[in-house]
Amino acid sequence: MTTPATWTPSSWRDLPAMQQPDWPDPGALDHAVKTIAALPPLVFAGEARSLTASLAEVAGGRAFLLQAGDCAESFDAFSADSIRDKLKVILQMAVVLQYSAGVPVVKVGRIAGQFAKPRSAPTERVDGVELPSFRGHMVNDIAFTSAARQADPDRLITAYHQSAATLNLLRAFTKGGFADLSRVHAWNQEFVASSAEGRSYEFVADEIDRALRFMAACGIDTQAVPQLHTVDFYTSHEALILGYEEALTRQDSLTGDWYACSAHMLWIGERTRQLDGAHVHFLSGVSNPVGCKIGPTATADEVLALCEALNPQRVPGRLTLITRMGADKIESQLPPLLRAVKEAGHPVVWACDPMHGNTFTSPSGRKTRHFDAVLAEIAGFFRAHEVAQTWPGGVHIELTGEDVTECLGGADEILDTDLDTRYETMCDPRLNARQSLDLAFQVAALLRR
Ligand code: PEP
Ligand code: CO
Repeated sequence: MTTPATWTPSSWRDLPAMQQPDWPDPGALDHAVKTIAALPPLVFAGEARSLTASLAEVAGGRAFLLQAGDCAESFDAFSADSIRDKLKVILQMAVVLQYSAGVPVVKVGRIAGQFAKPRSAPTERVDGVELPSFRGHMVNDIAFTSAARQADPDRLITAYHQSAATLNLLRAFTKGGFADLSRVHAWNQEFVASSAEGRSYEFVADEIDRALRFMAACGIDTQAVPQLHTVDFYTSHEALILGYEEALTRQDSLTGDWYACSAHMLWIGERTRQLDGAHVHFLSGVSNPVGCKIGPTATADEVLALCEALNPQRVPGRLTLITRMGADKIESQLPPLLRAVKEAGHPVVWACDPMHGNTFTSPSGRKTRHFDAVLAEIAGFFRAHEVAQTWPGGVHIELTGEDVTECLGGADEILDTDLDTRYETMCDPRLNARQSLDLAFQVAALLRR
């Protein structure tokens, strides 16, 4: 990828940057950013290039993207178990999709860096008290006190270290035996295995076991096939806090290209995708694969301009457009975009985020989503692609490996009155492990058609 001539890792500073925190002490911010700039990169350029190559397969209709994880990672709920359980459910979903639909699945986590949140309002008012909004653990804390809501640049450094530790464990799990296909049964957690979708999963896992035994019986040395024993798992997050991203942007010694080394893939959120804004400019100059959220107000001209800004050389796999329209809007809003991008010949990955257009506040006062609306948006996404003769390239899901009660519906029929039982998210409501697995089966059925 060729970086625009006027681009440097800091040239975004000349443009309006939305959603940046009010850092109270510029000296402390400068110190934090300089500290991070002196630390090692979290990912390597060659890994980002491999992901671009895999996403090029998705853009070409030969593979499917599963991007999933927390809405916002937490500094408090940070443990080996929670990382393992999130990885488990993503591996389970990928196996279901790959086995039932027969397409390779590119696995990308919203993990190891997803610590910053854009907000619809800069402040929040409770009982007449107005404080800065919570912007994710990379910036401030969620408690409603003025001390907690003060932006603290030391959190940028903590976010770096937690990302490094998370990534280290993910690499160990995916390359060190945990993701071995012979352990496909072991990824099923007890509370999932006892449910209908858990039993469907066990059936798939049995079939995979049989296939592995069959290959061995045919004389294939399955031990010698690395694809059966390790998994390529990539990291991603919203590139929101640009000072942090700049500090981790490094020049690749092999190619001379710039890479954002905080994650393999970065995306631009719905609130920061202004064409003349700092976020689009910053990501236009790094060579990683990048994503951009596309909400229901986006016009075809805007989307084409984003394609030109972010992928002028039309590199397949470089750009993923993540649509998040809402179940009721997808079939009117998506088709004109699909037609325009196809006509312009831009080789994008189209992914469906069925979460962010379907959020509402339930009568009990909890922010939630209904599983049926999530599925309805995905079904609308597939229908729109079928009509446009384009490839429904992937899904982008907010989930957790745990047994939370944050989204309504699903096979357990979670009701509004159940939401309080285990509502643990720091930001948006996530699908629990059962709902996630159920979703994977339904997406596999859509893919098979
Ligand atoms: C998110 O992905 O958590 C998010 C804030 O999404 P969007 O930018 O699409 O609203
Ligand atoms: Co979210």
